[in-house]
Amino acid sequence: MPHSFEEKLARLQALRRQTLEGGGADKIAKIHASGRLTARERVHLLLDQDSFQETGVFVRHRSHEMGMDRSRPVGDGMVTGVGRIDGRQVYVFAQDFTVFGGSMSEANALKICRLMDQALENGCPVIGLNDSGGARIQEGVRSLAGYAEIFWRNTMASGVVPQISAILGPCAGGAVYSPAITDFTLMVDKTSYMFVTGPNVIKMVTNEDVTFEELGGANTHSTRSGVCHFMAASDADCLLMTRRLLSFLPQNNLEDPPRVVPGDSPDRREEKLNSIIPDDNRKPYDMLDVIRLVVDDGDFMEVQSRHAQNLICGFARLDGQPVGIVANQPKFQAGVLDINASLKGARFVRTCDCFNVPLVVFEDVPGFLPGTEQEFGGIIKHGAKLLFAFCEATVPKLTVITRKAYGGAYDVMNSKHIRADYNVAWPGAELAVMGPEGAVNILHRQTLAQSDDPALERRRLVDEYNETHANPFIAAGLGYLDDVIEPADTRRHLVAALHSLRNKKQTLPPKKHGNIPL
Ligand code: HXC
Repeated sequence: MPHSFEEKLARLQALRRQTLEGGGADKIAKIHASGRLTARERVHLLLDQDSFQETGVFVRHRSHEMGMDRSRPVGDGMVTGVGRIDGRQVYVFAQDFTVFGGSMSEANALKICRLMDQALENGCPVIGLNDSGGARIQEGVRSLAGYAEIFWRNTMASGVVPQISAILGPCAGGAVYSPAITDFTLMVDKTSYMFVTGPNVIKMVTNEDVTFEELGGANTHSTRSGVCHFMAASDADCLLMTRRLLSFLPQNNLEDPPRVVPGDSPDRREEKLNSIIPDDNRKPYDMLDVIRLVVDDGDFMEVQSRHAQNLICGFARLDGQPVGIVANQPKFQAGVLDINASLKGARFVRTCDCFNVPLVVFEDVPGFLPGTEQEFGGIIKHGAKLLFAFCEATVPKLTVITRKAYGGAYDVMNSKHIRADYNVAWPGAELAVMGPEGAVNILHRQTLAQSDDPALERRRLVDEYNETHANPFIAAGLGYLDDVIEPADTRRHLVAALHSLRNKKQTLPPKKHGNIPL
């Protein structure tokens, strides 16, 4: 036992050094060799300089089984604390893979739970820097209990404070379920993995051969599963992306997202928009060009950019105000809505709604994708999720129909009838039950069959249909559109509408919760 103050101070300093050493120099070197950073390096890169205040610094695990009493590292492989991002307070935990593979012990679960409780009490975002082999095997059910306590808190915090999960190493089992409940998951290409059971277990159970990368790499989760919202090139890139993402979100559900001083004129006309739509309505164009020409400084942070690319989701600003953009992408599958696009859109709409981020929709949609694969896969219930999400959203909701708005997809994509606030169309927009060719085939099959010149007759009938249905003025005449606007003026109209809706208050009928068709 130290007696003098100098001895006590020396003990403190020695213990603190141990916290910085993690699992030791060799293991840190291995982490660096794999292209990753240590937990502490990540925390310091994520946060504003010198803003980190660590908590639970000297916590150790309490296990004795399987020789664990001989290895009780200070901090137990979990760095927790509070800091700032762009001056705004956030709570952070970072798993240290050099200590028992970052696995979840009862003790470090308690550290995370304490942190999450404080984040909720103080109304601040929680950022998890995950690098963990899952439940600490030596601790058995105590580790599972720790995870469940975290999952419960993730669920309670959902829709109250933003929760962001960066996946920065191999994450298995419980280490992926907590991120799955949070709002956003970021992964690093080639160094981070997510799976419930790894390749070895899969080989034993199903006899499938699959690599770590194929099974749960960032590429797989960014494209196929859609589990990953943002793919980064390195740890540092991922942490910068996390900072940027937070800039679009409020501290909690009672606040608005932070406005920035705009550097772009609210009235900026964009002549290019007047010629962006091809004359032939079957030809594609890039809706990302439309978005970038309209939003502040062309700055758009796309979410799930490589998954369900027929629907674009992401954050931007209009006159400094963060907005969530949902847009059909004619460049991919003609912008049709399918299962994956519906799920992607529904999740994004709900995320924006719970954090008071107004929604702006750019619509060019030929309908829902037909086919047995979609029907057997449940497009009915999945498409209904997108519909439900837009219906339920009470944030300001704006829609610009750039070209097609066909069938049920017209209703779903933030139409006036499901309480959008400001709906406009460009002059060439077509709002109809279906496209002219399909409609003429169904309505005039007999006439065409009996015609001497079916091609000429078809052209006449298509023109007649277009005149009657496929233009924006019928809908505008019925009040379903607030205006038909010159494309070049889109930004001015959206900015003005957004300003007018700044104090929008809309409440839902009292209920425990809605029953979104899961
Ligand atoms: C205790 C663990 C551990 C774990 C890894 N380690 N995972 N210790 N519990 N879950 C230790 C290793 O023993 C090793 O210790 C060190 O961490 C580094 O691990 P390596 O295997 O050498 O690293 P690597 O080759 O990079 O592989 C990483 C890995 C692999 C893919 C994560 O370790 C792995 O498959 N771990 C088990 C994953 C898993 O099945 N977890 C349980 C999931 S079930 P030494 O001392 O040698 O350095 C679960 C239940 C919760 O989580 C479910 C809730 C819904």
